[in-house]
Amino acid sequence: MNGKLLVIGFGSIGERHVRCFLKTGRCNVSVCEPSEELRNRAQTEYNIEHTYASLDEAMNCTFDYALIATPAPFHVSMATRLAAEGIHLLIEKPLSVSLEGVQKLDDIVAKNQLTAMVGYTHRSNPTLVSMREQLLSGRFGRVLQVTGTVGQDFAKYRPAYQSTYFAKHETGGGAIQDAMTHLVNAGEWLVGPIQKLVADARHQSLPGVDVEDTVHLMARHGDKQDVLGLYSLNLHQAPDDFTITVIAEAGTCRLDLQRNRWSCKTESGQPWEHHSFSIENRDQIYICQANTFLDAVAGLAPVTCTIREAEQSLRVNLAMLKNMGRTPWLEVTQNAADRGAPLVKQGAENR
Ligand SMILES: NC(=O)c1ccc[n+]([C@@H]2O[C@H](COP(=O)([O-])OP(=O)(O)OC[C@H]3O[C@@H](n4cnc5c(N)ncnc54)[C@H](O)[C@@H]3O)[C@@H](O)[C@H]2O)c1
Repeated sequence: MNGKLLVIGFGSIGERHVRCFLKTGRCNVSVCEPSEELRNRAQTEYNIEHTYASLDEAMNCTFDYALIATPAPFHVSMATRLAAEGIHLLIEKPLSVSLEGVQKLDDIVAKNQLTAMVGYTHRSNPTLVSMREQLLSGRFGRVLQVTGTVGQDFAKYRPAYQSTYFAKHETGGGAIQDAMTHLVNAGEWLVGPIQKLVADARHQSLPGVDVEDTVHLMARHGDKQDVLGLYSLNLHQAPDDFTITVIAEAGTCRLDLQRNRWSCKTESGQPWEHHSFSIENRDQIYICQANTFLDAVAGLAPVTCTIREAEQSLRVNLAMLKNMGRTPWLEVTQNAADRGAPLVKQGAENR
């Protein structure tokens, strides 16, 4: 018999989760969402029989699982309340905007022997999963360096961003907590947790907000802090990019999520060995994540991202937010003759 899932928050990602969990055919889905308009949409578009205007109202009924797709400041308190009722959890990223309550949540999940997974969706992408398996197999030897590049036209994908959680750090917004945390979490999954970092971030372009939309991160990964990491991200470029390159002693691996492939090269001058995957649309990854979660609850698979692992990526978010703007820059003194005259001229006259 199918279990009962409560999706909390029927916004942008909550709706996708509803659609994708329905596609698994493995659970009955109900929705908790304060907006009446969105509750009506859940009923008319997805035939959701039971909708609730608040978690208090929903908690009068019983559920086997809950998916928390509200803004990040709600995640931990909602998860703790649901876990106390013995409900298995899939929690959207980032786990939170502070460490408050995280230990208590982890404890109650353990005490009640629940499955709890955090929705770092890239961990359900078969392309990343496959590259990670090859790295962990030892085929490429010891990892030395990791670099990651992400960019997209965020305003195109999320036109309403100015009026969502994205607009403020306190609500889980800004590029660090929103998009960068996916890149950081994927990097940590590949080569180990970040132990120390330097971050530079700034608002460069996105209209109507002043949170950072451009981020640079320099990091050391692993217990010995001997893997050098370098990541960059922006939310305003035209091309979609998501690449991670891992340079190891016996080879280099490159993940390219836009091309749905990872590639490796073990000898200079030789061609890349490509591993391509067929991913028709974004929903496919979320359906995969939904199935993994349901399998994990049934004891058939491990969760893709534990609360502890998500807490580690949260700690990186917090360290980056603390460090940005405080990077100890060294000024480069200019030759007096060049002052005021740029070495590289802009525009046609310099071609
Ligand atoms: N994994 C991914 O790929 C991915 C993608 C987008 C967003 N997210 C994350 O998912 C979360 C939600 O993002 P979103 O883009 O859907 O935001 P959103 O603003 O579009 O939707 C959030 C919804 O939560 C509802 N909500 C607010 N308070 C509530 C409450 N107390 N009870 C029930 N519902 C409540 C709001 O009414 C809104 O409909 C954020 O943490 C975000 O970072 C993850």
